[in-house]
Amino acid sequence: MSASLKTNFLGFDYENPFMNASGVHCMSTTELDELANSKAGAFITKSSTPNDRTGNPSPRYVSVPLGSINSMGLPNKGIDYYLDYVLDRQAKYPNEAPIFFSVAGMSVDDNLSMLHKIQNSNFNGVTELNLSCPNVPGKPQVAYDFELTIEILTKVFDFFKKPLGIKLPPYFDFAHFEIMSDILNKFPLTYVNSINSVGNGLYIDVEKESVVIKPKNGFGGIGGEYVKPTALANVRAFYTRLNPSIKIIGTGGIKSGQDAFEHLLCGATMLQIGTELQKEGVSIFDRVTKELQEIMDKKGYKTIDEFRGKLNSL
Ligand code: FUM
Repeated sequence: MSASLKTNFLGFDYENPFMNASGVHCMSTTELDELANSKAGAFITKSSTPNDRTGNPSPRYVSVPLGSINSMGLPNKGIDYYLDYVLDRQAKYPNEAPIFFSVAGMSVDDNLSMLHKIQNSNFNGVTELNLSCPNVPGKPQVAYDFELTIEILTKVFDFFKKPLGIKLPPYFDFAHFEIMSDILNKFPLTYVNSINSVGNGLYIDVEKESVVIKPKNGFGGIGGEYVKPTALANVRAFYTRLNPSIKIIGTGGIKSGQDAFEHLLCGATMLQIGTELQKEGVSIFDRVTKELQEIMDKKGYKTIDEFRGKLNSL
């Protein structure tokens, strides 16, 4: 019998660990329906703000040979649009896998007001608080500010009683892994999602001697193959430092079953795909599930739990 990709997360058995990364293929209800009907084990909505936003001027997302650069600027249809969608979907399909819902306010108050709305609704899925968008001019990534992160999480867990995870930017120093882990271990988080794009990279078109995206003079978040080693390092660093009750969602550079296997070996429970989903469309979930299964079959693993987190050191 072929290996099982079933993944238990928060007590629910998802068919497999794969999801979209918030921001990719999840802006409209049509795209969300396509994800729901795809081979993905779960899906997440575009990070919402209290009201709809048009985001940054175009071009603002460009696929490049080893990945992508984007400065979308949180375009979205506003929290009510996505909340209506998920409430409707969970009422219509009560046995479907719990949905993930992403929010990214422009301020502490924005985040608190959106989380109050979710807390007071019938939403029974998982909420992701995005503390790592690098693309709003004048707004630094929240999770690089440790004091602000503590302030937000303290205020949130004062009233928010539903499952909550946070989306983190990449960290690049052991000191920062330690500080952030000490902070996160003080809160009843369901998960951390590592990593968001590597913020403020620059991609250059040599022919035109120009940047390739318009916002922020070409500076944007980098995704895809460029970021896999950084993503794996962050997954591993948090997996080995956080309380075991805080699960890890691995995001960054997943393009094949082998990339997925590496994230799982580092300790991820669920896996999100951004850049490659944008390139290939939702059929990517058929391909990566097959590829992961083939690797597991070859190695004789029947379940992901047999190897999750068991990365060898030398
Ligand atoms: O610019 C954006 O909408 C991206 C958001 C994110 O990376 O979290």
